[in-house]
Amino acid sequence: MGSLTIDPLNPVIGAQVSGADLCAPLSPDLAKQIHAAWLEHQVLFFRGQPLDFEQHKAFGRLWGDFHIHPAAPGPQGHPEIMTVHADASSKTVAGQGWHSDVTCDEEPPKASVLHLTEVPPDGGGDTLFASMYAAWDALSDSWQRMLDGLTAVHASEHVYRGRYGADPKLRDGGYPRAEHPVVRTHPETGRKALFVNSGFTTHIRGMRHAESRATLGFLFEHVRSPEFQCRFRWQADSVAFWDNRCVQHLALWDYHPNVRHGYRVTIAGDRPR
Ligand code: SIN
Repeated sequence: MGSLTIDPLNPVIGAQVSGADLCAPLSPDLAKQIHAAWLEHQVLFFRGQPLDFEQHKAFGRLWGDFHIHPAAPGPQGHPEIMTVHADASSKTVAGQGWHSDVTCDEEPPKASVLHLTEVPPDGGGDTLFASMYAAWDALSDSWQRMLDGLTAVHASEHVYRGRYGADPKLRDGGYPRAEHPVVRTHPETGRKALFVNSGFTTHIRGMRHAESRATLGFLFEHVRSPEFQCRFRWQADSVAFWDNRCVQHLALWDYHPNVRHGYRVTIAGDRPR
């Protein structure tokens, strides 16, 4: 029976995994070990995984049905895959601000699996991940009491219009928008996680505009505290597998004009509660 080696990046979030070949079917036992490590560390990193599209999708399918991105185009014939690309002509890159994936959807994705095939030759292009369990746990009782039970609006037009235009792929021609609890309970671990992000969250229901702006401003600063983070340095054929229910991430664009390229599959989630 194969066994994994799990090396935590720090006690809060992130672990590097060795002993798994994601290009081959995983045994139920290895999949179970990966799932347990993922729930504990929230984001897992794998090196040396030259996945083709089918292998990438096969790994993603282990964790649930695919979530299809409302706007981002995928490679021809693979709507379940999102291309992540930047080069000298890029004006913006996906994921430059702190966010959890597609929280503008009523049922935001549970997980994402990103495989980079090309990394900038001089370094750069790291991804930062932050634990929203840690962000919630670090708030005082007073803040926790105030936030628990509140809901916030997550919109997408301000994110997607500039990047993807009025793409017909957008459902009903409209940009997705949803309301979610400000703190959610993770359906598998039962832990509470802060669930507002500067990418999509526009305001908190039931607050005056200035109150909402001040509260979200504080929370957006809070979630980016270095104590809640790990940072992953990519190599070609590295894979990151993160839990969007309790993790935010940010893709650093510090390598222009160099190329960074890869693919993401995203796994459908449930309605945050
Ligand atoms: C994303 O999925 O938001 C992009 C992450 C990255 O490119 O590192």
